[in-house]
Amino acid sequence: MDDADLLIRPAVMQDAEDARRVLVETWHDTYDPLLGSEKVAEISGRWHAIEVLTQQIGSPDALFLVAEHSGRLVGHAYALIPQPDVLFLSRLYVLPAWQRRGVGTRMLGAVLERYPGTARMRLNVEAGNGKGVAFYLRHGFTVVGERAEEGLRHLQMEEVLR
Ligand SMILES: CC(C)(COP(=O)(O)OP(=O)(O)OC[C@H]1O[C@@H](n2cnc3c(N)ncnc32)[C@H](O)[C@@H]1OP(=O)(O)O)[C@@H](O)C(=O)NCCC(=O)NCCS
Repeated sequence: MDDADLLIRPAVMQDAEDARRVLVETWHDTYDPLLGSEKVAEISGRWHAIEVLTQQIGSPDALFLVAEHSGRLVGHAYALIPQPDVLFLSRLYVLPAWQRRGVGTRMLGAVLERYPGTARMRLNVEAGNGKGVAFYLRHGFTVVGERAEEGLRHLQMEEVLR
């Protein structure tokens, strides 16, 4: 993929439905093997409801990014600052057909660019999500803890930025 063909930009309200499609498809691909399709549909239905996504797109305290290629959304990231100096990456999702082509790396870079000077970046990733864990290890994150949510075992990962 030519880097110039990929546009990483903040979402507008009209992106909510397409962002939801990216999330639903990527969630099933990632978590069905871990949780089962029914449970994934139930959680995704709540977490990725249009009202939730439009509220997040409109939030002045968070960054809702989309990755667009040829007019189509292929990825999405959502980040916020829950406490001073800590950047929390709440979601990073790339459609299965677009994975391992550098889209996730570009979105991670775009999030960091938006919050220069932050001391550390944190996230939770499901322990059984090999791709996700490999991606974050590759980008310099380390495991700093563990927690359970919705039947999943999350690893808490952190990267010191300065
Ligand atoms: C994790 C994810 C966001 C990474 O985005 P991506 O665009 O596929 O990643 P990139 O192409 O930028 O990959 C960068 C590096 O991540 C690692 N990586 C990515 N996919 C991998 C895979 N399937 N297996 C092993 N390592 C992988 C590799 O180190 C890769 O570098 P390399 O290709 O030079 O070996 C994407 O795979 C995804 O959406 N996965 C499903 C959802 C998810 O797990 N999100 C994170 C949890 S919130």
